[in-house]
Amino acid sequence: MASISVAFTILSVLLSSVSLATSDPAFDNFLQCLHNHINPSDAISEAIFTPASSSFESVLQAYIKNGRFLTPTTPKPLAIIAAGHESHVQATIICAKFHGLQIRIRSGGHDCEGLSYRSNTPAVLLDMFNLRSIDIDIQNETAWVQAGATLGELYYSIANKSKVHAFPAGVCPTIGVGGHVSQGGYGNMLRKYGLSIDNVIDAQIMNANGTILDRETMGEDLFWAIRGGGGASFGVILSWKIKLVSVPEIVTVIHVDRFLEQGATDIVYQWQQVAHNLDNDLFIRAMPQVVNGSRPNEKTVKVSFIGFFLGQMDRLLQLVNESFPLLGLKQNECKELSWIESTIFWADFPNGTSIDVLLNRPSKPVTAFYKTKSDYVKNVIPKEGLESIWKMMLLRDWNMRMEWNPYGGKMNEISETETAFPHRSGYLFKIQYSTSWADEADIDNQINWLRDVCAGMETYVTKNPREVFMNYRDLDIGSNPSNQTDFKNAEVYGHKFFKNNFQRLTKVKAAVDPDNFFKHEQSIPPYSV
Ligand SMILES: Cc1cc2nc3c(=O)[nH]c(=O)nc-3n(C[C@H](O)[C@H](O)[C@H](O)COP(=O)(O)OP(=O)(O)OC[C@H]3O[C@@H](n4cnc5c(N)ncnc54)[C@H](O)[C@@H]3O)c2cc1C
Ligand SMILES: *[C@@H]1O[C@H](CO)[C@@H](O)[C@H](O)[C@H]1NC(C)=O
Ligand SMILES: *[C@@H]1O[C@H](CO)[C@@H](O)[C@H](O)[C@H]1NC(C)=O
Ligand SMILES: *[C@@H]1O[C@H](CO)[C@@H](O)[C@H](O)[C@H]1NC(C)=O
Ligand SMILES: *[C@@H]1O[C@H](CO)[C@@H](O)[C@H](O)[C@H]1NC(C)=O
Ligand SMILES: *[C@@H]1O[C@H](CO)[C@@H](O)[C@H](O)[C@H]1NC(C)=O
Ligand SMILES: *[C@@H]1O[C@H](CO)[C@@H](O)[C@H](O)[C@H]1NC(C)=O
Ligand SMILES: *[C@@H]1O[C@H](CO)[C@@H](O)[C@H](O)[C@H]1NC(C)=O
Repeated sequence: MASISVAFTILSVLLSSVSLATSDPAFDNFLQCLHNHINPSDAISEAIFTPASSSFESVLQAYIKNGRFLTPTTPKPLAIIAAGHESHVQATIICAKFHGLQIRIRSGGHDCEGLSYRSNTPAVLLDMFNLRSIDIDIQNETAWVQAGATLGELYYSIANKSKVHAFPAGVCPTIGVGGHVSQGGYGNMLRKYGLSIDNVIDAQIMNANGTILDRETMGEDLFWAIRGGGGASFGVILSWKIKLVSVPEIVTVIHVDRFLEQGATDIVYQWQQVAHNLDNDLFIRAMPQVVNGSRPNEKTVKVSFIGFFLGQMDRLLQLVNESFPLLGLKQNECKELSWIESTIFWADFPNGTSIDVLLNRPSKPVTAFYKTKSDYVKNVIPKEGLESIWKMMLLRDWNMRMEWNPYGGKMNEISETETAFPHRSGYLFKIQYSTSWADEADIDNQINWLRDVCAGMETYVTKNPREVFMNYRDLDIGSNPSNQTDFKNAEVYGHKFFKNNFQRLTKVKAAVDPDNFFKHEQSIPPYSV
């Protein structure tokens, strides 16, 4: 018996080293290091996917959200470590550092430029999707949420425990908590409760030494930096402790479409003046997009107003009638729902979709391509300006749209330096430009159209710096090769994302990761100022 089991052990060691062997010695040593580092009961083998593994492609593709980064020329990681345990995260950090490999960290994979999984420098992908527990404490109105949980799972779990609690974050349920929260996180409760980071009270992060830190042990500088500065420059976020917020049992959503022919320009002009000043319970997004007109081959602009109100329809109709009369809001353009049902509406699922959809994980590779850019607006755009914007949009593509997201309310009450996220008071709204398409051959045209429209907006948006929302990551604003140590563009993208908070972020970086282990094309450099 004993000799059989010894023989079996030797055989399996041989087999596993055969299947692990590659042509890259640093990488082989890295894999060996993972095995040496981990207690066998932590089952690291099941977490490792190399290109030789049959499921490597499907694991890689599962959390790629943008067809632009699912092409044959997109560089692939050396391996994927789908951590099932904190010790796997630790071994990945320590072994990658020791053997001179970079890592990429992925939670939900929604990074607009795919930086959580693609790298021009050979890198190991640390995938967090298995670390997704959610622990809700309704009595204390808090929750611990692991990085790999999605917003949909978080929303579902909260609603499962209470009808009058919620969390302010984005509207797309498949977004990962790990990336989203560390880069700000905004949604339709922004005017009432601020960003996700404004409702984070503690966090667990693993640093470059593989040590787990919480708010107390990381200190207030690092805790400040990971609220808006992005986690991926500082360490691996393991989990967030969040503060739940109160919502009424019934909320109301709005969907209104107005075309240019119906006076959309005047309505948008009034929206700019009032949307940031409305009752904090009310958030109305304006969404201009190019659509087919009433005659063949004619295009027009439709502006959709998508609203969320923390209250019932009667009061909403009265508020809108008083403050935003040009919208002409009618009862049949509103719908009363529970908060959790409103998340389904905001995610664009058809009326009547079960809330179970919030728990869906990706089942097939993405087919759409997209590109996103962003801007902030502080001054009302005159009517002639609006007309020239519609003209610019009409000259180009059918799939282009903008989302104008109102500011004000709680955002005006939080100082620019409270967290690393600097775009706080004095803004009327934030613009997201996006285009999506289905044919790979259209990549250049689509992206150029989007860039042209964005360039044409220069006179209406913030200047010096022209500010950009980090969660709408955009490599057009500058990047550095992730394998270099001169950060010639960091000042540029750094000020666009963080304004004057950039300098403090570089100091925190120099203190917690002086060797710059945690880096990517738009990470924060460890300047020693
Ligand atoms: C369809 C769609 C809708 C969106 N809607 C909204 C919205 O309503 N509101 C909004 O604010 N944003 C929105 N976004 C942007 C989104 O919030 C960001 O892309 C966000 O960073 C995604 O988080 P993720 O974990 O899914 O992304 P990932 O691609 O996994 O990560 C994004 C970045 O964070 C880093 N990161 C990820 N996990 C960790 C971790 N555990 N520790 C350290 N670093 C980590 C990555 O390395 C990368 O740099 C949307 C994006 C898409 C594609
Ligand atoms: C909840 O709050 C109470 C009172 O503030 C505190 O004693 C208790 O430890 C908290 N529970 C948790 C799980 O934090
Ligand atoms: C909570 O979730 C469980 C498991 O999905 C489900 O069976 C139960 O009905 C849910 N309860 C509520 C109140 O939503
Ligand atoms: C818009 O019109 C074009 C032809 O002009 C047509 O091919 C397309 O399907 C139409 N799109 C929609 C959404 O109706
Ligand atoms: C809006 O308010 C005016 C009075 O200010 C009133 O006459 C009108 O009926 C109201 N309209 C709606 C739709 O409530
Ligand atoms: C949504 O569905 C409900 C029934 O589930 C129906 O009563 C309602 O009219 C529908 N609303 C819209 C806007 O389609
Ligand atoms: C660094 O990256 C660039 C591309 O970003 C590549 O051309 C170069 O060879 C890399 N250098 C090293 C040392 O890996
Ligand atoms: C990491 O370990 C090194 C060597 O022990 C030590 O000098 C450094 O301060 C540690 N860094 C952190 C962030 O703990």
